[in-house]
Amino acid sequence: MKTSSVAELLQSDVTLQQVSLKGWVRTFRSNRFIALNDGSTLHNIQCVVDFENTKEETLKRITTGASVSITGTLVESQGKGQSLEVQVSSLEILGDSNPDEYPIQPKKHSLEFLRENAHLRVRTNTFSAVMRVRSKLSFAVHKYFQENGFNYVNTPIVTGSDAEGAGEMFRVSTFDPNKAPVTEEGEIDYKQDFFGKETNLTVSGQLEAETYAMALGKVYTFGPTFRAENSNTTRHLAEFWMIEPEVAFMDLEGNMDLSEDFIKSVLSYVLEHCKDDLAFLDQRLTQEEKSKPQAQRSDMSLLEKIHFVVDNNFKRVSYTEAFDILRNSKPNKKKKFQYLIQEWGADLQSEHERYLVEKHFKCPVILFDYPATIKAFYMRLNDDGKTVRAMDVLFPGIGEIAGGSQREERLDVLQEKIKAMGIDEKELWWYLDLRKYGTAVHSGFGLGFERLVQFATGMGNIRDVIPFPRTPQNAEF
Ligand code: 4AD
Ligand code: MG
Repeated sequence: MKTSSVAELLQSDVTLQQVSLKGWVRTFRSNRFIALNDGSTLHNIQCVVDFENTKEETLKRITTGASVSITGTLVESQGKGQSLEVQVSSLEILGDSNPDEYPIQPKKHSLEFLRENAHLRVRTNTFSAVMRVRSKLSFAVHKYFQENGFNYVNTPIVTGSDAEGAGEMFRVSTFDPNKAPVTEEGEIDYKQDFFGKETNLTVSGQLEAETYAMALGKVYTFGPTFRAENSNTTRHLAEFWMIEPEVAFMDLEGNMDLSEDFIKSVLSYVLEHCKDDLAFLDQRLTQEEKSKPQAQRSDMSLLEKIHFVVDNNFKRVSYTEAFDILRNSKPNKKKKFQYLIQEWGADLQSEHERYLVEKHFKCPVILFDYPATIKAFYMRLNDDGKTVRAMDVLFPGIGEIAGGSQREERLDVLQEKIKAMGIDEKELWWYLDLRKYGTAVHSGFGLGFERLVQFATGMGNIRDVIPFPRTPQNAEF
């Protein structure tokens, strides 16, 4: 007999049929009722054991966490709380689970405890819901780009360049750290290393994606990126997934339109395809909010927040405008910000971004035209000579969810900037070639996938939306 998933069975309208299913016991009560879950849906299916005709020995082995194989009859449920159930005719224990040792007991566990048991936490309702939404979101990302004429490009994970110029990279080397060869000057001789040069894990696929956009027109990457920034926050990971579209002949306006349309599209997709999981996560968040002081509570539920983003226009504001708003804001005047806004040109911190989004505009905001001094070398210089065609998409609860720009397409201006920022032009010879052969206006952005999953699931900590988080001092599993 074919093994059915719990999701299939719960949707089926044919009762009194023989079914076979496999899954893990969530709970077993009164020596009769198994709540069985197989991951196909948030919901468990109730399996009713005929305890009089089941060996005592077997009944004892039906414990939380055990894996079982069941055959029986799918019938309308006699009890409350479910419409269908399985009347078990035979049950086989596939794998025991010692109830005294199994960490995932049927009770509420703290997120911190579950993080320490990341290999088992996906067996809880919260994490299985989050990970199903994550999977659907990632499908929605590919669907959006594929249906809009983009080509998926796999940019390298090991690179010799620092796209963001921030120097926060993990080195890739095969040298024995105690016996690395040195040059006559006493420096480590990377010429003798595996790649014959210094290499790192990529911080962004953008520079390579640009080369493909300048031939395929519309491209996107969706892959892991790595940053050795020592930020122990609820929004930073050392290993995270980034989505980076790059489009030839598109300016910053087009880039803002694309980011807004893309984000709304993928969020709409999960609203449509993850109804059960989102309803559960919505309730979870509402419960969590109740434990916070009134002043810190959000006045919107998770579903309201997602709908709010999907149904409203993102507000577009220049850095200079935002700077004025922030400088004259109450928290700035009352010195409530940790970083006070004084001089034009200052980088905005998460507290400022969240003030703009949550307190001032009360909607997602796209900030553009940032000071050149706080942005990467590749962004197009405006005619004012001091701002660049950069944009950041800011979200409630998250702050920056995406960052991008129109790229500098003029060879001489780019060379100037590379020099001014002290970057070695020789390293970027291939990037400069794009400006020598058929250069064109082009733009793109990078969206942190985990920040998107955080927004869609309402999880407060980014460590809880990726299966095995990598953060400073932590690479377990
Ligand atoms: O703003 P960033 O640094 O932009 C770039 O890397 C550009 N090359 C993108 C492009 O134009 N193609 O990073 C882009 C996004 C951020 O907005 C944020 O959502 C996410 O990546 N991000 C992180 N997410 C999790 N953990 C971290 N440490 C992150 N750093 C950036
Ligand atoms: Mg950024």
